[in-house]
Amino acid sequence: MANLISSIKFTSFIYVFLLFLCPLCSLKKGYAVEANEHIKKYVHTLEVNSLLASDSCNQSSKVIDKASSLQVQHKYGPCMQVLNDRSHVQFLLQDQLRVDSIQAKLSKNSGHGIFEEMVTKLPARSGIAIGTGNYVVTVGLGTPKKDFTLEFDTGSDITWTQCQPCLGSCYPQKEQKFDPTKSTSYNNVSCSSASCNLLPTSQRGCSASSSTCLYQVIYGDQSYSQGFFATETLTISSSDVFTNFLFGCGQSNNGLFGQAAGLVGLSPSSVSLPSQTAEKYQKQFSYCLPSTPSLTGYLNFGGKVSQTAGFTPISPASSSFYGIDIVGMSVGGSQLPIDPSIFTTSGAIIDSGTVITRLPPTAYKALKEAFDEKMSNYPKTNGDELLDTCYDFSNYTTVSFPMVSVSFKGGVEVDIDASGILYPVNGVKTMCLAFAANKDDSEIGIFGNHQQKTYEVVYDGAKGMVGFAAGGCS
Ligand SMILES: *[C@@H]1O[C@H](CO)[C@@H](O)[C@H](O)[C@H]1NC(C)=O
Ligand SMILES: *[C@@H]1O[C@H](CO)[C@@H](O)[C@H](O)[C@H]1NC(C)=O
Ligand SMILES: *[C@@H]1O[C@H](CO)[C@@H](O)[C@H](O)[C@H]1NC(C)=O
Repeated sequence: MANLISSIKFTSFIYVFLLFLCPLCSLKKGYAVEANEHIKKYVHTLEVNSLLASDSCNQSSKVIDKASSLQVQHKYGPCMQVLNDRSHVQFLLQDQLRVDSIQAKLSKNSGHGIFEEMVTKLPARSGIAIGTGNYVVTVGLGTPKKDFTLEFDTGSDITWTQCQPCLGSCYPQKEQKFDPTKSTSYNNVSCSSASCNLLPTSQRGCSASSSTCLYQVIYGDQSYSQGFFATETLTISSSDVFTNFLFGCGQSNNGLFGQAAGLVGLSPSSVSLPSQTAEKYQKQFSYCLPSTPSLTGYLNFGGKVSQTAGFTPISPASSSFYGIDIVGMSVGGSQLPIDPSIFTTSGAIIDSGTVITRLPPTAYKALKEAFDEKMSNYPKTNGDELLDTCYDFSNYTTVSFPMVSVSFKGGVEVDIDASGILYPVNGVKTMCLAFAANKDDSEIGIFGNHQQKTYEVVYDGAKGMVGFAAGGCS
């Protein structure tokens, strides 16, 4: 192993994805806005207890296309049968670490200084879960095929799994670890091949002794995966099988990936799964994240997407993220008085791994003031560092709160599902508006996964569009 490690020549550029865990961040579904004849009501009214998650697992029957769909589960939800008792405060801290890393990666004036910057910013704490998103799917790898539960992340490039013999170290996972010697279709990639050069130089190395291409992804101070860059047969379903799929055979892995065996990279980059399967799926995929961890959603590949989706163009924010343009927001049906230049200056990305949507402070201030005005009947309470607009619903059986909508370039308005407007920081005693402000108006906005719940979110990398269709999970 010393040999392997010493032969890994990586540059010091490191990027970091900060993961957070979402044990209870959800509400039950079914509180659609009450449509009264043709009048849209701009208020959600629902039972307070429905704002909290249950311990049972209900499998969704919805799939877009049986051949190319995977079931999506929350990494810490009852459907994974890994009940982790993580506090929401820790959960939100981890969300902020992910956002800090995205901001550092996208910051225009940060060149090679990112490594030093991140090292000082991240609390050097062991076991902090960093990186990659909180929803998992199960895919097949190898011949004969074995199933692996992997996190999926629109902000990650390389797909990797922990690999025997774990020359460095592996963390505990749900399934047996992938063993390349038990697969007839596994091949190392050589340093001289074009495939090796698809890896960014910061993530690429070469084993001096064997000329085997090495990869490295570092998500944070304690969280990383490194090992052999290899090809293998990837099985999405019996009819969707991809030979020579480039992936990371992780020999040295660390971090809390919540029993997941690794991750699936869905970014726009050339080594991501959508890019490698472009011939069959045309870089199209969609997912629906369920309203609560007690339910399942789906991740679908290929073009069979909802006909009702409204599309917004992908803007070139970075090769590792999907950029989109927010143009306005409304609360309870009233447009917020936010100068459009606030959004055009910051820009935005959509991310499957960030939970809480981040807005320019000027936009967040307008949102929270308008929301709070409509919530004046309810007692306010202190939140935490991230979420500052919070209510105590202890004395209520039902609550009403205003609808929140986000408009994107191209005329798409997304009415956030009732499950995505509030976040239970401390049960019904502390329910907070589930949006947060960036540090300043120049930082990029992030449309997070809490606000994407129940929508079918469609990524069309070939046409350069992201779409949203309501009622996507059911
Ligand atoms: C799960 O399904 C059962 C029966 O279909 C239903 O009664 C229950 O409300 C569902 N739970 C959730 C969280 O949707
Ligand atoms: C892949 O490369 C590693 C390091 O050189 C080597 O130990 C392993 O046997 C190789 N595997 C195959 C299938 O060639
Ligand atoms: C709930 O009601 C009790 C009894 O009326 C009262 O003492 C308490 O302050 C109320 N709590 C809140 C958060 O309003």
